[in-house]
Parts: sequence; C-alpha cells; structure tokens
Amino acid sequence: MPALPFTAPALLAPMDGVTDPCFRDLVLERNPATALGGAFTEFARVNRGALTRRMLRKQLGPTRHAAPVGLQLLGADVEAVALTAARAEEAGAPVVDLNFGCPAKGALRTCAGSALLDEPRKIEALVRACFDAVHRVPVTAKIRAGGDDDSALEDIARAAEAGGASLLTVHCRTRAEGYADTADWERLRRAVDAVDIPVCGNGGVDRHEDLARVRDETGCAYAMVGRGAMADPWIFSGREVDALEAARFLQEYAEQMERNGAPRAALAGRLKQLLRHWRAGGLVDDRRGAWLAADAETLLRSVADAADAPVVLGADA
Ligand SMILES: Cc1cc2nc3c(=O)[nH]c(=O)nc-3n(C[C@H](O)[C@H](O)[C@H](O)COP(=O)(O)O)c2cc1C
Repeated sequence: MPALPFTAPALLAPMDGVTDPCFRDLVLERNPATALGGAFTEFARVNRGALTRRMLRKQLGPTRHAAPVGLQLLGADVEAVALTAARAEEAGAPVVDLNFGCPAKGALRTCAGSALLDEPRKIEALVRACFDAVHRVPVTAKIRAGGDDDSALEDIARAAEAGGASLLTVHCRTRAEGYADTADWERLRRAVDAVDIPVCGNGGVDRHEDLARVRDETGCAYAMVGRGAMADPWIFSGREVDALEAARFLQEYAEQMERNGAPRAALAGRLKQLLRHWRAGGLVDDRRGAWLAADAETLLRSVADAADAPVVLGADA
C-alpha cells in the first residue's frame, strides 16, 4: 500500500466553493509544511463518464507545495470513478480521495456522496475499484458518522478499509446533522477502534489547540479543519496575526481571483463566504454585518483600505 505523503498530522478539508487552487495556495503559503500536512481539492464530480486529465489538472492547480494536495472525487459509477482515479494519478495527484459525505441534493440525486453511507458494500466496491486502478498513490476515503444516525459507523468505516483505503477521514456529524454546531468526537474514537488504518478526525476542530486535542482525546492520527480555516487561515501554525495581515490575506485572495478572471460580483461573494466565518486579526469583529451587507464595490474597496493596498481595486481596474 503506498505511503501517505502528508508532512504533518493536520490537514485542510476539501470545501466546494472554497478550497480552489487560489485559496489553497494562500493557506499553504502561510503555514509551514511542518504544521499543515496537506490539503484537498474541492470535490470533482464524476457523473457523466470519467473526467479528463485536463479537468483534473485544473482541479489540482498550477502550483506545487511541500505539503501535498489530494484530489477528491465524488461519484457513484464505479467504472467512471475508477478510470478518473487512474487519470488523477497520471495528472499528478499525490492522493486520490473519495467523497462519501456530501449531503447536497445534487450528490443525493445521483446516489453519490452521503447517499452511499446507506450502502457500505457500494463504498467498499468504489474504494476497491480505485485501489485497483491507481498504482503509486494512496486512495483515501472521507465519510460521515452515518446517514440518518450513527449506528452503522463501524460498518461504513470497515467497508472503506476493506476496499483498500490508506486513510479514513471521519466527519463526526451524520448526514442528518448536516453542519450542526455540535460535534461528537466520541464517534471518532469509535472509528479509530473499528479499523486498523489511520483515521483523520474532522468536525468541530475550530481552534489551533483543537488540532492536538482531537488527536489526544480520540486516538486519531490526523486532524482535519474545514470552516476553522475559513475563520483563521493561520490555524495550523497557530500564529496570531494582526488586522492588517488578516486584511492582506483577503486582498490577495481578491486580487488573485480577479487575475484568474473572476467577475467582481463573484469575488465579492467569495470574500463574503469567508467573512461569515472570519476571526483572524479581529479584523471583522465589529464590521462583519456591514461588510456582509455591502455591495460588491464597497466591500472590495473596504478590504483594500483595511489592507492598506497601494492600488484600490475599482470598476476601472
Ligand atoms: C462550504 C463547504 C463546502 C464543502 N465541500 C466539501 C467537499 O467538496 N468535499 C468534502 O468531502 N467535504 C466538503 N465539505 C465538508 C468539510 O470538508 C468538512 O467535513 C465539514 O465542514 C466539517 O468540518 P468543520 O467542522 O471543520 O467545518 C464542505 C463544507 C463546507 C462548509
């Protein structure tokens, strides 16, 4: 079984609409590989035949960092997902991850993502087909603690292991719980007890201190952070930044997205998505409401001002 390439036991979660190459690069640049051990792409949906190498390279992004970026696939068609996994390896993915947790309607309609939590044998078949299709890189699986409840957690975890997964990430909420505020880490301990492969604990790892705590309390080998990294992109290193540095992250994010051709309304939307969670530098504590309510141009100008940016992004930029 190929070794896991992660450089540290803390990982950035895959987040659709968030962890595109641009956001990932900014986070990977700000946390040393000794603190942030790896990241994942947003899921690549496989629902109309296998994806091309070109699509997969785009998903992976142009840059490579010391910490690896795994490519995540979402799909239920065993042949198409396995062929895509083989192409992902050829496209340079250092890890191929399979999504068994997405609760979005689109995933459920195609019986993919968290729909598969009700069918552990199908999870096993998908992991095995990918395991057989790739040769040099590990296949990993990301599950939730269950569908309607957590009674099948051990069965689901063992199914992924039996298929050949090298790492099992467990988002400790069930599909029914969605993204509820509570996070039951006892379920992570149950998953650790159920399998022999390393488990990555996810869900409610919100602060730097939680990275060590979740591993200590559950026996998980790895810890994965999702929204905590939207709140504080430095969460892995634990560095406390000031408001200026925090604003510069947002400004750089906006500039990079604009260089990539994102319309200004779209990049303001992406900034707002981060600002709903943002904590770093105390930057938005007293202006969150105003920034979230602002129109795109006002928001972009406010962020540029806060970042003391020499060139203010504007309609004529
Ligand atoms: C906006 C958003 C998009 C997400 N997209 C994905 C995805 O593409 N693949 C996936 O496996 N999980 C996805 N998730 C789930 C996260 O990876 C993670 O499991 C979840 O947010 C729980 O971790 P947290 O409490 O640290 O946020 C997404 C979550 C959010 C908030």
